[in-house]
Order: sequence, then C-alpha cells, then structure tokens
Amino acid sequence: MEKHIFSNTEEVAEHFAKYLLNVSTGKTEFHIALSGGSTPKALFDFIAQNFANKFDWDSIHLWWGDERCVAPDDAESNYKMTYDRLISKIDIPKGNVHRVLGENAPDQEAVRYSKDILNNLSSENGLPKFDLIILGMGPDGHTASIFPHQMELLQKKEICAVATHPESGQKRVTLTGNVINNASEVAFLVTGGNKYDKVRSIFDKGLNHELYPAYHIKPTHGKLVWFLDEAAWGNS
Ligand code: 6PG
Repeated sequence: MEKHIFSNTEEVAEHFAKYLLNVSTGKTEFHIALSGGSTPKALFDFIAQNFANKFDWDSIHLWWGDERCVAPDDAESNYKMTYDRLISKIDIPKGNVHRVLGENAPDQEAVRYSKDILNNLSSENGLPKFDLIILGMGPDGHTASIFPHQMELLQKKEICAVATHPESGQKRVTLTGNVINNASEVAFLVTGGNKYDKVRSIFDKGLNHELYPAYHIKPTHGKLVWFLDEAAWGNS
C-alpha cells in the first residue's frame, strides 16, 4: 500500500492528475470508476484546466463508484458535478461515459448498472475488474456509498447495491465492497482535518477501526494507494 501526503487539496489534485495520466497512458481500454466529493472536484478542475488534451480519452471509460438516485441535472448528482467540471470540457466519446441513471428506480438501476459493467469490463475471480477505482472517505469512514450502518454492502454478492444515506435517507447506487476490492488499483483521495481521526484509526488499527467501511477496502490482488493532505494525515 502506497501513501502520498501533500500540503493541501490542490496539491493532492495536481499530483493525482499526473499519477492518473501515467497509469492510464498507453492502454487500449482503461475503465475508471469515479467518486463524488470535494477532492474529486479539485481533481476534475485541474485536469480540465491543465491536462484536457494530455489524456487519450478515446481509450478511457468513465464509471461511477456511487451515485445519488437523482436526475442527472440535480445539484446532488455526482454525474452532474463531473459533467460540469470535466466531461463538458474534454473530448471524450459519449459511449465512454457510463453514468448511473439516477432518475430510474434504485433497485432496477442497481441491476441495470451491474449488467452495463459486466457487458463492458473483463472479469476476474468471478467479478468485473476495474482498472482503477477512485474513492473518497467521509468523516464517518464511509466510502463510495457504503456507510457504517450498512457494512453488509462490503460483502454483498451483487456488483451494485442500493444504499441509504444515514442522515438524509437519500437512496444511492453503489459498487459493493467485493467489486471494489477486485480492482487492479484503488486510489483514495482524502483531504480535510475532519477525516484525521478516521484516517489515523484506519492506518494505526486504532479503536473501532473495523467499524469504518474504508478500512475494509484492500484490493485482493490489486494496488492500494492513498493521496492525502496534511490536514487529513496530521503533520507527524
Ligand atoms: C459521494 C462520494 C462520497 C465521498 C465522501 C467524501 O457520493 O458523496 O462518493 O463517498 O467520497 O463523502 O467526500 P468529501 O471528499 O467531499 O469529504
């Protein structure tokens, strides 16, 4: 497992953009599952402003590790955030953008998206294999839309599941933990002092670390890399 610490969110975004360019260049097909959240916003802005023409977008397929069950033009939509900050500013074939249809009924969409993934990705260990899954981590240790009150989504046999936000009750479609752990590579992008206690608990196996979904993300055969800022890691 690799860990990279940078001074702030913008530094994390710039260094991860370079990392992403390096890991995706030269591939005939590269399937990435994206995340919502504040750090990916900075990443998409950096790529759109500085690297829009450096990536071979014909070979890159964009998926989502989780999506809110809302319309694609809803302010809550991870797709909308990605479209506004990145997709609308790059020359990527429409067929390479595989959004979760948040406007659909959640249970039906979880099934449809699972089939879409299976139809487009190669499989290994009986599960679809993403080339890279980008994840954030919430202050409660959730990742994708696997929250501490729904730990069963880590082991669920389905590719995608319907999750519920613990406070708002908002329905979401999320990749399940086994699919995430089947990826060739998983990259956490975690910034902000409100993540510090969970980050250190996960890395130091501190009190209650097993209660945090992000702790259970350990690619079975793939690579795990964390990109953090000093606020999330602490200065030690
Ligand atoms: C989402 C994200 C979610 C996010 C974390 C961290 O749909 O909201 O997938 O898992 O990564 O909540 O978000 P921040 O980086 O904004 O703290």
